[in-house]
Amino acid sequence: MEWDAKKYNTTHDFIFKYGAGLLGLLPKEPKKVLDIGCGTGELTNQMAELGHEVTGIDQSVNMINQAKESYPDLMFLQEDILNPSDQIGLYDVAFSNAVFHWISDQDLLVKNISEHLKQNGQLICEFGAVGNVQAIREVFGRELNALGFPFVEPFCFTSVEDYRVLLEKNHFEVVEILEYERPTPLKGSESGLKEWMEQFYAVELGELSDGQKEKLLANMERDLKPKLWKEDHWEADYRRLRIRACKL
Ligand SMILES: C[S@@+](CC[C@H](N)C(=O)[O-])C[C@H]1O[C@@H](n2cnc3c(N)ncnc32)[C@H](O)[C@@H]1O
Repeated sequence: MEWDAKKYNTTHDFIFKYGAGLLGLLPKEPKKVLDIGCGTGELTNQMAELGHEVTGIDQSVNMINQAKESYPDLMFLQEDILNPSDQIGLYDVAFSNAVFHWISDQDLLVKNISEHLKQNGQLICEFGAVGNVQAIREVFGRELNALGFPFVEPFCFTSVEDYRVLLEKNHFEVVEILEYERPTPLKGSESGLKEWMEQFYAVELGELSDGQKEKLLANMERDLKPKLWKEDHWEADYRRLRIRACKL
């Protein structure tokens, strides 16, 4: 899926705004930091402002181009963390916000991160936990099935237990790991849920005709309204995993 970087920065800016909470886990002294899936570079820039030497990587051309345009003095590389080039060196910290659930091969992800961390280097990350946007996914799956389409979950939402096992298997010591609910207001008032769906389930919605898509989204709004509509905005039922781990 290719990202619309301009729309990301305006409509989905809540992602890096919430992600700023992760910056408090960074070491206080300047470090060499790799921002994995840096998107439009907003958090990469905030880490640079804290004094860290940062490199942002992202597989999306649109995101990397936007990051370079916004922050021309910072280092950004178009790279897939599952297939990194030799340009990526060794870091004290691997940082990542709202990325890991997009990646299905979690073993390879953690192995590659480990290879780009110095000994005692830290992984600081946050992403979707098991049960993330559960109400939205359940209704979406049901509506897709009603139209004769299967629902194949594109996201990998993991539990504390499973991620701890994965990290320890890859020789990380888990320093802290937290699973928490983060009800998230969506921008756009009435159209907020529709716009969120169009960004995060773009591939699945792209399989439908315009008529099918319109009907499906209207049905979703009807069914989710009692639970997720909050007077003047939609509130998505996010659940997150926040992790700090040390490479042994
Ligand atoms: C929701 S955005 C988060 C961007 C940024 N971290 C932030 O907080 O604003 C997810 C980003 O992960 C990137 N991404 C997903 N899979 C990736 C991979 N295998 N390698 C590098 N980047 C990846 C996407 O291109 C996208 O820019």
